[in-house]
Amino acid sequence: MNSPVSDALVFFGATGDLAYKQIFPALQALTRNGHLDMPVIGLGRSDWSVDQFIARARDSIEQHGTLDAGAFKKLSARLQYLSGDYLDNSTYQRLRVALAGANHPLHYLAVPPEMFDNVIRGLYRSRCAKNGRVIVEKPFGRDLASAQALNQLLMQSFPAPDIFRIDHYIAKEAVQNLLYFRLANSFLEPVWNRDHVANVQITMAESFGVQGRGGFYESVGAIRDVVQNHLLQVVALLATDAPADHHADAIRDAKLQVFRAMRPISPAQAVRGQFHGYLEEPGVQADSAVETFVALRLDIDNQRWAGVPFYIRAGKQLPLTATEVMVTLKSPHHPIFDAAETGHGNYFRFRISPEVQISLGARVKLAGEAMLGEAVELLAQHHDSVEMSPYERLFGDAIQGDGSLFARYDSIEAAWRTVAPILGNTVPLEVYEAQTWGPLQAADIPSGDGGWHDPAPTKDSNGSAG
Ligand code: BG6
Repeated sequence: MNSPVSDALVFFGATGDLAYKQIFPALQALTRNGHLDMPVIGLGRSDWSVDQFIARARDSIEQHGTLDAGAFKKLSARLQYLSGDYLDNSTYQRLRVALAGANHPLHYLAVPPEMFDNVIRGLYRSRCAKNGRVIVEKPFGRDLASAQALNQLLMQSFPAPDIFRIDHYIAKEAVQNLLYFRLANSFLEPVWNRDHVANVQITMAESFGVQGRGGFYESVGAIRDVVQNHLLQVVALLATDAPADHHADAIRDAKLQVFRAMRPISPAQAVRGQFHGYLEEPGVQADSAVETFVALRLDIDNQRWAGVPFYIRAGKQLPLTATEVMVTLKSPHHPIFDAAETGHGNYFRFRISPEVQISLGARVKLAGEAMLGEAVELLAQHHDSVEMSPYERLFGDAIQGDGSLFARYDSIEAAWRTVAPILGNTVPLEVYEAQTWGPLQAADIPSGDGGWHDPAPTKDSNGSAG
């Protein structure tokens, strides 16, 4: 790759929650591995000194990672902090001065979606964008029209290869493994279609609430926060035909075909919920109709998947934290299989987080005269999630100019078209109690297919078992 390596990292939203939870630990890891040998300039609205900023970075890493004294010392020496209003031109003038020695700055926008426009315009006008790159956080826009407008603005300000649209799910090891496992195992392809798959379920459950991010969450809700991006990307990897080769664009071309074949979700096939207590969260409107839970049915109208329901469920304040995919196969329909036995138990189960598991559900005969069996699960792979963090990986890639693991704009547009009918308040909002599996109505969505599969608690999932 001939593109220049970025020589300064600027991050907007440096005092915010995302920076605190994800970005500082990723910056320390990049520093430790020698991939961040450049000034790191944080921007935020709080009037902090650089020492306060460094203290915040240390605290963040202690809370959400492990402090490495040597790497942190190097990182602290590179940290600078600029406070300013994103609407004020002088903020960008001061950034320009701070960037004096850099020719290819990388700007990362961890700001609320409604601020993207202002920051991009400010970077462009001040010439901070010149020869630079930009990483834009998800969700990319609020709907199709705003995504188009945002994209247009970005394309006017940065060359196309220098625009990076983040979706950290794509960079998760376990998510990439979905495609790898499918394509690397010849026993899967013959059954990976409408002839053999009964339904697919994806559950992204989180046992916590909005964790002080009420203000951000009010502008998104579960559909925009995790379905339009993370979970539809998971669907695309599960459902895609084999890409022409292993290059990133071949994979993204193949996924695009799936995104385009997704039928816009019918409001009649969706349930929205809000956990009891959400309205009392800081930053939340007293009469907010924002959903913290969604359950829906998605159809993919192509030769491989027509008629196979993809059930998606995501929510906050559920009984545990786990993201899991369940691909249930059709019944074998053989007389040897006793119909009185409950369920045929033929499935593939992919646990994406917190730990990584791939397992195969099957039935085996019980010892004895009768042709009766029991369900077993064969674990194909299991490891604790010790992967490089998605943010470390994505920042490292963007610094090198490699956009392989970022979302491509055409698929983002197609994803907005898919969720368009259920945005806003087209689907009534139901209240659910915290630490339950969402509103009771959610059970109706897959009712014809045996109901929801609830991920089991493990030691890492904050569930009760372990
Ligand atoms: C983020 C969402 O994109 O993903 C959060 O904004 C969500 O609401 C998070 O909690 C989950 O990501 P992970 O990697 O922690 O499972």
